Amino acid sequence: MKRLVIFASGSGSNAENIINYFRSNKKAEVEMVLTPNPNAGVIERCQRLNVPCLVFNREEWKSGKILELLKEKNPDMIILAGFMWLVPGEIIRAFPQRIVNIHPALLPKFGGKGMYGDNVHKAVSDDGETETGITIHYVNEYYDEGQIIFQQKITINPHENPEKIAQKVHELEYKWYPEVILKLLAQ
Ligand code: GRF
Repeated sequence: MKRLVIFASGSGSNAENIINYFRSNKKAEVEMVLTPNPNAGVIERCQRLNVPCLVFNREEWKSGKILELLKEKNPDMIILAGFMWLVPGEIIRAFPQRIVNIHPALLPKFGGKGMYGDNVHKAVSDDGETETGITIHYVNEYYDEGQIIFQQKITINPHENPEKIAQKVHELEYKWYPEVILKLLAQ
Protein backbone atom coordinates (compact mmCIF):
# COMPACT_ATOMS: atom_id res chain seq x y z
CA MET A 1 0.00 0.00 0.00
CA LYS A 2 1.37 3.41 -1.00
CA ARG A 3 1.54 6.10 1.64
CA LEU A 4 0.44 9.71 1.24
CA VAL A 5 0.90 12.89 3.23
CA ILE A 6 -1.33 15.92 2.64
CA PHE A 7 -0.61 19.58 3.35
CA ALA A 8 -3.68 21.83 3.64
CA SER A 9 -4.13 25.36 5.02
CA GLY A 10 -7.89 25.78 4.86
CA SER A 11 -11.20 23.98 4.75
CA GLY A 12 -9.71 20.72 3.56
CA SER A 13 -12.55 19.47 1.39
CA ASN A 14 -10.03 18.11 -1.13
CA ALA A 15 -8.08 16.47 1.68
CA GLU A 16 -11.26 14.76 2.91
CA ASN A 17 -12.14 13.67 -0.61
CA ILE A 18 -8.68 12.14 -1.14
CA ILE A 19 -8.77 10.38 2.25
CA ASN A 20 -12.15 8.85 1.44
CA TYR A 21 -11.21 7.92 -2.13
CA PHE A 22 -8.23 5.90 -0.97
CA ARG A 23 -10.21 4.34 1.87
CA SER A 24 -12.40 2.63 -0.67
CA ASN A 25 -9.76 2.09 -3.34
CA LYS A 26 -7.12 0.65 -0.94
CA LYS A 27 -4.16 1.28 -3.26
CA ALA A 28 -2.92 4.02 -0.95
CA GLU A 29 -3.55 5.52 2.44
CA VAL A 30 -3.34 9.07 3.75
CA GLU A 31 -1.05 8.64 6.75
CA MET A 32 -1.05 12.18 7.95
CA VAL A 33 -2.25 15.71 7.27
CA LEU A 34 -0.13 18.75 8.09
CA THR A 35 -1.42 22.29 8.42
CA PRO A 36 0.20 25.61 9.31
CA ASN A 37 -3.17 27.05 10.32
CA PRO A 38 -4.42 26.26 13.85
CA ASN A 39 -7.93 27.34 12.77
CA ALA A 40 -8.06 25.32 9.55
CA GLY A 41 -11.26 23.40 8.88
CA VAL A 42 -9.11 20.45 7.85
CA ILE A 43 -8.29 19.79 11.53
CA GLU A 44 -11.91 19.01 12.38
CA ARG A 45 -12.24 16.88 9.27
CA CYS A 46 -9.20 14.83 10.31
CA GLN A 47 -10.61 14.32 13.80
CA ARG A 48 -13.87 13.08 12.31
CA LEU A 49 -12.04 10.82 9.86
CA ASN A 50 -9.53 9.64 12.41
CA VAL A 51 -6.45 10.75 10.47
CA PRO A 52 -3.50 12.25 12.38
CA CYS A 53 -3.23 15.99 11.80
CA LEU A 54 -0.19 18.01 12.80
CA VAL A 55 -0.23 21.80 13.18
CA PHE A 56 3.18 23.34 12.51
CA ASN A 57 4.60 26.86 12.47
CA ARG A 58 6.80 28.86 10.14
CA GLU A 59 9.91 28.25 12.24
CA GLU A 60 9.42 24.46 12.00
CA TRP A 61 8.83 24.81 8.26
CA LYS A 62 11.95 26.92 7.64
CA SER A 63 14.31 25.23 10.09
CA GLY A 64 14.06 21.81 8.46
CA LYS A 65 11.99 20.18 11.22
CA ILE A 66 9.17 19.33 8.84
CA LEU A 67 11.71 18.08 6.31
CA GLU A 68 13.07 15.71 8.97
CA LEU A 69 9.58 14.45 9.72
CA LEU A 70 8.91 13.91 6.02
CA LYS A 71 12.18 12.02 5.61
CA GLU A 72 11.22 9.82 8.54
CA LYS A 73 7.78 9.09 7.08
CA ASN A 74 9.13 8.85 3.53
CA PRO A 75 5.70 9.04 1.83
CA ASP A 76 5.28 7.89 -1.78
CA MET A 77 3.65 11.21 -2.54
CA ILE A 78 3.19 14.58 -0.86
CA ILE A 79 -0.07 16.24 -1.82
CA LEU A 80 -0.76 19.94 -1.49
CA ALA A 81 -4.49 20.65 -1.28
CA GLY A 82 -5.14 24.30 -0.59
CA PHE A 83 -1.69 24.79 0.97
CA MET A 84 -0.62 28.45 0.98
CA TRP A 85 3.11 28.50 1.70
CA LEU A 86 5.97 28.18 -0.74
CA VAL A 87 7.80 24.89 -0.36
CA PRO A 88 11.51 25.29 0.49
CA GLY A 89 14.04 23.97 -2.03
CA GLU A 90 15.40 21.41 0.46
CA ILE A 91 11.99 19.72 0.66
CA ILE A 92 11.54 19.80 -3.12
CA ARG A 93 14.99 18.31 -3.69
CA ALA A 94 14.37 15.60 -1.08
CA PHE A 95 11.22 14.42 -2.91
CA PRO A 96 11.79 14.90 -6.64
CA GLN A 97 8.60 14.47 -8.71
CA ARG A 98 6.80 13.42 -5.54
CA ILE A 99 5.13 16.70 -4.52
CA VAL A 100 1.97 17.71 -6.37
CA ASN A 101 -0.46 20.60 -6.13
CA ILE A 102 -3.87 21.42 -7.54
CA HIS A 103 -4.67 24.90 -8.79
CA PRO A 104 -8.27 25.95 -9.44
CA ALA A 105 -7.67 27.47 -12.90
CA LEU A 106 -5.95 26.75 -16.18
CA LEU A 107 -2.30 27.61 -15.51
CA PRO A 108 -0.28 29.53 -16.56
CA LYS A 109 -3.27 31.87 -16.51
CA PHE A 110 -4.55 33.03 -13.11
CA GLY A 111 -1.60 31.68 -11.15
CA GLY A 112 1.14 33.14 -8.97
CA LYS A 113 1.29 34.92 -5.66
CA GLY A 114 -2.11 36.06 -4.37
CA MET A 115 -3.93 33.82 -6.84
CA TYR A 116 -5.59 31.38 -4.47
CA GLY A 117 -9.08 30.37 -3.47
CA ASP A 118 -11.83 32.82 -4.36
CA ASN A 119 -9.34 35.40 -5.73
CA VAL A 120 -8.80 33.07 -8.67
CA HIS A 121 -12.49 32.65 -9.48
CA LYS A 122 -13.10 36.37 -9.10
CA ALA A 123 -10.26 37.17 -11.54
CA VAL A 124 -11.60 34.61 -14.03
CA SER A 125 -15.07 36.16 -13.75
CA ASP A 126 -13.80 39.76 -13.98
CA ASP A 127 -11.83 38.94 -17.13
CA GLY A 128 -14.95 37.56 -18.83
CA GLU A 129 -13.33 34.16 -19.43
CA THR A 130 -15.46 31.55 -21.18
CA GLU A 131 -13.51 28.62 -19.82
CA THR A 132 -11.71 27.70 -16.65
CA GLY A 133 -10.75 24.45 -14.97
CA ILE A 134 -8.11 22.75 -12.87
CA THR A 135 -4.38 22.21 -13.17
CA ILE A 136 -2.50 19.49 -11.32
CA HIS A 137 1.25 20.11 -11.35
CA TYR A 138 4.51 19.15 -9.71
CA VAL A 139 5.64 21.66 -7.13
CA ASN A 140 8.79 23.73 -7.46
CA GLU A 141 10.08 26.72 -5.50
CA TYR A 142 7.74 29.20 -7.17
CA TYR A 143 3.99 29.62 -6.88
CA ASP A 144 2.13 27.59 -9.52
CA GLU A 145 5.12 27.19 -11.85
CA GLY A 146 5.98 23.50 -11.61
CA GLN A 147 5.60 21.13 -14.53
CA ILE A 148 1.97 20.59 -15.50
CA ILE A 149 0.74 17.01 -15.18
CA PHE A 150 -2.96 17.32 -15.98
CA GLN A 151 -5.58 19.91 -16.88
CA GLN A 152 -9.33 19.68 -17.27
CA LYS A 153 -11.47 22.47 -18.72
CA ILE A 154 -15.06 23.52 -18.26
CA THR A 155 -17.08 26.14 -20.09
CA ILE A 156 -18.45 29.09 -18.15
CA ASN A 157 -20.49 32.14 -19.08
CA PRO A 158 -18.56 35.40 -19.40
CA HIS A 159 -18.63 37.17 -16.02
CA GLU A 160 -20.29 34.19 -14.37
CA ASN A 161 -20.74 34.55 -10.63
CA PRO A 162 -17.43 33.59 -8.88
CA GLU A 163 -19.26 31.38 -6.37
CA LYS A 164 -20.80 29.41 -9.19
CA ILE A 165 -17.41 29.06 -10.87
CA ALA A 166 -15.91 27.90 -7.57
CA GLN A 167 -18.59 25.26 -7.20
CA LYS A 168 -18.02 23.90 -10.71
CA VAL A 169 -14.25 23.88 -10.25
CA HIS A 170 -14.55 22.10 -6.91
CA GLU A 171 -16.52 19.34 -8.60
CA LEU A 172 -13.70 18.90 -11.10
CA GLU A 173 -11.18 18.83 -8.29
CA TYR A 174 -13.05 16.10 -6.40
CA LYS A 175 -13.40 13.99 -9.52
CA TRP A 176 -9.87 14.29 -10.88
CA TYR A 177 -7.35 14.93 -8.10
CA PRO A 178 -7.55 11.45 -6.52
CA GLU A 179 -7.55 9.77 -9.93
CA VAL A 180 -4.47 11.62 -11.11
CA ILE A 181 -2.70 10.80 -7.83
CA LEU A 182 -3.57 7.13 -8.32
CA LYS A 183 -2.11 7.20 -11.85
CA LEU A 184 1.09 8.87 -10.64
CA LEU A 185 1.46 6.28 -7.89
CA ALA A 186 1.28 3.49 -10.46
CA GLN A 187 4.10 4.94 -12.61
C1 GRF B 1 -8.95 24.33 -3.92
O1 GRF B 1 -9.74 25.07 -4.80
C2 GRF B 1 -7.59 24.09 -4.52
O2 GRF B 1 -7.58 24.04 -5.91
C3 GRF B 1 -6.81 25.30 -4.09
O3 GRF B 1 -7.30 25.60 -2.82
C4 GRF B 1 -8.63 25.12 -2.67
C5 GRF B 1 -8.68 24.29 -1.43
O4 GRF B 1 -10.00 23.97 -1.06
N1 GRF B 1 -5.40 25.07 -4.18
P1 GRF B 1 -10.25 22.91 0.10
O5 GRF B 1 -9.50 23.42 1.33
O6 GRF B 1 -9.73 21.60 -0.36
O7 GRF B 1 -11.72 22.91 0.33
